Amino acid sequence: MRAVVFHGPGRKAWEEVPDPEITDEGDVIVRVETATICGTDLHILHGDVPAVRPGRILGHEAVGTVEECGDGVHTLAPGDRVLVSAISACGTCRFCREGRYGQCLGGGGWILGHKVDGTQAEYVRVPFADMSTYRVPDGATDGEILMLADILPTGYEVGVLAGGVRPGDVVVVVGAGPVGLAAITTAQLYCPSHIVAIDLSDTRLEAAKHFGADVTVNNSREDPFRVIKDLTGRLGADVSIEAVGRPATFELAVKLARPCGRIANIGVHGQAVPLHLDEQWIRDITITTGLVDGSSTPTLMRLVTSGQIDARRFITHHFALDEFEDAYDVFTRAADTGALKVALSRCGE
Ligand SMILES: NC(=O)c1ccc[n+]([C@@H]2O[C@H](COP(=O)([O-])OP(=O)(O)OC[C@H]3O[C@@H](n4cnc5c(N)ncnc54)[C@H](O)[C@@H]3O)[C@@H](O)[C@H]2O)c1
Ligand SMILES: [Zn+2]
Ligand SMILES: [Zn+2]
Repeated sequence: MRAVVFHGPGRKAWEEVPDPEITDEGDVIVRVETATICGTDLHILHGDVPAVRPGRILGHEAVGTVEECGDGVHTLAPGDRVLVSAISACGTCRFCREGRYGQCLGGGGWILGHKVDGTQAEYVRVPFADMSTYRVPDGATDGEILMLADILPTGYEVGVLAGGVRPGDVVVVVGAGPVGLAAITTAQLYCPSHIVAIDLSDTRLEAAKHFGADVTVNNSREDPFRVIKDLTGRLGADVSIEAVGRPATFELAVKLARPCGRIANIGVHGQAVPLHLDEQWIRDITITTGLVDGSSTPTLMRLVTSGQIDARRFITHHFALDEFEDAYDVFTRAADTGALKVALSRCGE
């Protein structure tokens, strides 16, 4: 089969590799129908995630068809259409029993495209398949369900729920990439009074408006502090969500929060980030960090299939699976191309 293989920082290729095989009784092999690229894959290519070794197949998001099941798989059968979650879960460890699948101690967590071969491929081996896949509901499209593999649960769990968004809050989202837009989308489930999107890219800010931000700030030419002060009577935001993964944006997110405010870091960081505790200790802030668990996926799936969340609008570009090089190029140059999520499908649709 062919797959996107990581060859060290800055290098990847769509190339021929051996087909995956079942190596554990809990595995399934999924024929990938639709896959996508994440901001985290770009971090990997920048060398920010050293645990990803050369030779690894990238990708942690897919919708596909079960081809083959290990003997220990109980809930799936060949032919089933499934969402492959970014997070795998052994289902029995302490953290899985608490729904904290991202922290799985039994060999799960974020492993696809990280510690084991991932989904940017024609086929993928999915470990702990009963716990790590979700059946695609009848009538749902691959594209909308694919958004539940990572960005929607990430924006919701690590941004909105960790940040404790409440009715009437002023919510700031730093970074209006797909993950920031997922936070903007799901924050609206809690009726904030304002959602402020901050980004360097006007195209991303246009998207943020479309997704529900009522105030947008391009921080390459506008001062976000002034905007937030004007909006909050000089107090600062109730909840500040970081969805970029750079030191400067984390510092910005911290400073934009009001005293007693909540800062939810979603970004994947590849370098040490200053936390100015000498300034912040006195402000009674709460800072959360997190890896997505995917425990909200069933809830979000109901919101998507009932039409309360329009997940289709995240997908701006469609490619065939063997056009991964072009898709990476378009996704990497998002400020020029207007790309949010790219969908790569067998049929190119
Ligand atoms: N915690 C998790 O479980 C988890 C899961 C998925 C993704 N992530 C992370 O979330 C982050 C966002 O992912 P994405 O797919 O939306 O990425 P992305 O790269 O598409 O989007 C990042 C956005 O930040 C903007 N940006 C960059 N520098 C900025 C600055 N100085 N000020 C304001 N905006 C700036 C960019 O213009 C872009 O729109 C990444 O760090 C990704 O690795 C975390
Ligand atoms: Zn991701
Ligand atoms: Zn576990």
